[in-house]
Amino acid sequence: MPYYVERGEIPGKRHVQHRVGGRLTYEELVSREGFSDVASNAYHLRPPTAVRGVGASRPLPLTAAADEPHRHRHVFTSRLPAGGCPVFGRRALAFNDDLVVSTCEPVQDQPAFYRNALADELVFVHHGAGTLESMYGDLDFGPGDYLVVPRGTTHRLRCRPGRVKLFVVETRGPVQVPRHFRSDHGQLMEHAPYCERDLRAPRWRGPVDEPGDYPVLVKLRDRVQETVLAHHPFDLVGWDGFCYPWAFSIHDFMPVVGKVHLPPPVHVTFTAPGLVVCSFVPRLFDFHPEAVPIPYAHSNVDSDEILYYVEGNFMSRRGIETESLTLHPMGYPHGPQPGLIEKSLGAKETGELAVMVDTFAPLRVGRDALAADDPAYPLSWLEGA
Ligand SMILES: [Fe+2]
Repeated sequence: MPYYVERGEIPGKRHVQHRVGGRLTYEELVSREGFSDVASNAYHLRPPTAVRGVGASRPLPLTAAADEPHRHRHVFTSRLPAGGCPVFGRRALAFNDDLVVSTCEPVQDQPAFYRNALADELVFVHHGAGTLESMYGDLDFGPGDYLVVPRGTTHRLRCRPGRVKLFVVETRGPVQVPRHFRSDHGQLMEHAPYCERDLRAPRWRGPVDEPGDYPVLVKLRDRVQETVLAHHPFDLVGWDGFCYPWAFSIHDFMPVVGKVHLPPPVHVTFTAPGLVVCSFVPRLFDFHPEAVPIPYAHSNVDSDEILYYVEGNFMSRRGIETESLTLHPMGYPHGPQPGLIEKSLGAKETGELAVMVDTFAPLRVGRDALAADDPAYPLSWLEGA
């Protein structure tokens, strides 16, 4: 999505014959918004439509916690059970019609190729490394990477041995670089906290020309449909366009600091319909001589706020540890706990690293969140708590 990319062999014009080694290729246009937004043209060695079988459909229910009180929440996600693969081992912790927020600690490889038919996927890699393989090529990833996978992308996440921990946001609409970062021509402007040099597109791998049975697991929000392709899905001789999976490291986010505290919009990294994603990264604190370095209490009356804590010292929260997730819902203010404001005075910098998701519609709490719930959290703002 962020900029034009070309890989492999493509013809001089769109929609004309393209032969490679004398073999006529099969063009596929992958477009968004019904031919009216970003698109990529892909050239396959075999018809991308060739399906050998329609397999089983199985439920993948999104289960909300029943009759849960409306309150601030803190989930120790490190205490959730590891298991499954990078796609089907996800624990859905909160969701609404615009998004699903999960964490995942996979212990198995993906059983087959995977495609989310109804959601873009933003995968933040907390721990682990590997390669996101797709028909567009290979995208290597490591700790701190955001992986942006547009809906409809057939892919496989191959993780290297070792602990893997992912924070995943599935979004109804496209994950975008914020509009106000871009010029009328799409280029990232001087005030943006990152530029095109920071965005990584897939590395070209070349076609895999293999007929056979290749199952693809197609996710439809709350169920999975297996479909069996008649050949390997990564049979492209080339592609070009704006629609492909890409990566951005949180460590490449260049923070903005102010004379006094600046609010979260300065940390916005991505937008999608119904939400924004922000990156809190190590930075200098405010430089007014009487500045209060940590945030004031705030009521975001139109947003539910999720924070996933990655590493560093979270000065504005007590009792939080790495891999903690907090949910501050509409209806209540939140802010630093007692004593933390005084403790922060004079601090010059923070080493915190965290990802925030602000939603514009209320979230439902996933049943999986209850397994690692901190019931004392809503009372943690009491003096002496
Ligand atoms: Fe907040």
